[in-house]
Amino acid sequence: MQSTKPTSPPPLLLALGRLPVDRVPVWFMRQAGRSLPEYRSIRGSESILHVLKDPELSAKITLQPVERYGVDAAILYSDIVAPYVSMPLELDIVPGLGPVAGAPLRGPGDLDRLRPLDPDRDLSAMAKTVDICTSALEVPLIGFAGGPFTVASYLVEGRPSRDYLLTKELMFNDEQSWHHIMDALVDVALTVVGVQVAHGASVVQVFDSWIGALSPRHFNRFVKGHLERLAAGISTLGVPSIYFGVGTVGLLPEIIDIGFAAIGLDWRSNLRSAALKYGGSMALQGNLDPAVLFATEPLLLAEVAATLEESAPAAGYVFNLGHGVLPATDPGKLAAVVSFVHESGLALRTEEFE
Ligand code: CP3
Repeated sequence: MQSTKPTSPPPLLLALGRLPVDRVPVWFMRQAGRSLPEYRSIRGSESILHVLKDPELSAKITLQPVERYGVDAAILYSDIVAPYVSMPLELDIVPGLGPVAGAPLRGPGDLDRLRPLDPDRDLSAMAKTVDICTSALEVPLIGFAGGPFTVASYLVEGRPSRDYLLTKELMFNDEQSWHHIMDALVDVALTVVGVQVAHGASVVQVFDSWIGALSPRHFNRFVKGHLERLAAGISTLGVPSIYFGVGTVGLLPEIIDIGFAAIGLDWRSNLRSAALKYGGSMALQGNLDPAVLFATEPLLLAEVAATLEESAPAAGYVFNLGHGVLPATDPGKLAAVVSFVHESGLALRTEEFE
C-alpha cells in the first residue's frame, strides 16, 4: 500500500537542523491535558499512572491537540517519573500536587532501589502507545525523558519541593551516591527514549525543569557530564534533541556545548540575546509566558509577534511557550496562536533583515 504521508521533511525537523522552513513550526509543552475539554471527558479520575497502562487511551490523548490545533508535533502523553513506577520507590503522581515517592532515595542504603529498566516488561505500554501515535500522525511525535537533576529532585525529596534542600544536601555531602544516582537516571532516560525512537518518535526533548536551581559551578560539577552522556546517547539514536529547563539563563554558556541540537528557553530568558549569542550553533525553542494566554486576543497576538521578531537572529527556531500550558487556558487562544505563527511567523522572523 502506498503511504499518503508527506515526503518533504516536516518543519519541526528542518528548524531543529537549522535549515530553511516554509513555515515556523509550533507546538506547546503540556498541549495535551486539562486545558482540553475532550481530554477531561475521557480522562476519568484515576492517577495519570493508571491512564498510562492503557495505550489506546494514552494515544488518543496524545493526538487530541494535533487534531484540534494543527500543531507541528505531538508529544507523547506520559510523565518524567512514569518509568520509575515498577521500582520500589512507592511512586505516585497526585493530582494537583505532582510526583510523590513514599520510599525516597536518601542515602547509599537506598541506591539499590534504582534498577535498569527492562523494556519488554516496563515499557511495553509506552511502546504500544508510540506505535499507535506514529501510525496515525502526519507530524513528528516528540518523545521525552526527564533530566537527571529534575527526576532526582522528586525521587530524593519524595515530593515536589521549592528549595531542593534534601537533593542538594545529598549532592554536596555524598558525591559518590549522587553520581551513582545520576548515572542510573541517565541509563533509564536512554532506555526510555531508545524505545520511543525505535517505535517512531523522531525528536526527543529532555525535560530538566528544575535545573535552574543550580549555580553554574554546581551544574558543571554535579550534572553537566551526565547530560553530555545523555545528549551523546540521544545522538546515536539519530534524532535531534531539545533540552528544556526553567531559569536557565545563567546556565546557558554551560549548556550550549553539551551536544543538544536545541535549547528550550523559559519566558524569563531574553530570546533575542540568546538568539544573537547562540543561534549560530543551536536551534532555539520558546518562550512566551504561558500567562499571556490569559490576555485579550489582540494583546496575545502582539506578544506572539514580538516573540517571533526576537527569535529572528536564530537560524533554527520553534515557537513554544516558556513552560507548560496552564490548565485554565482557553483552547481557542492556543488555536489562534497556531494560526498566527503559521500565517505570519516567517515574515516576522525575516523582516528585520530586509
Ligand atoms: O507536554 C506534555 O503534556 C507531555 C506529557 C508530560 C506530562 N508531564 C504529563 C502530565 C510531560 C513531558 C511531563 C513532564 C513533567 N512532569 C515535568 C517536566 C515539565 C514541566 O512541566 O516542568 C515535571 C516537572 C513533571 C512532574 C509532574 N507531573 C507535575 C508537577 C505534575 C502536575 C500535578 C498536577 O496535577 O498539577 C504532573 C502530572 C502530569 N503529568 C499531568 C500531565 C498531563 C497532569 C495531571 C493528570 O492529567 O493526571
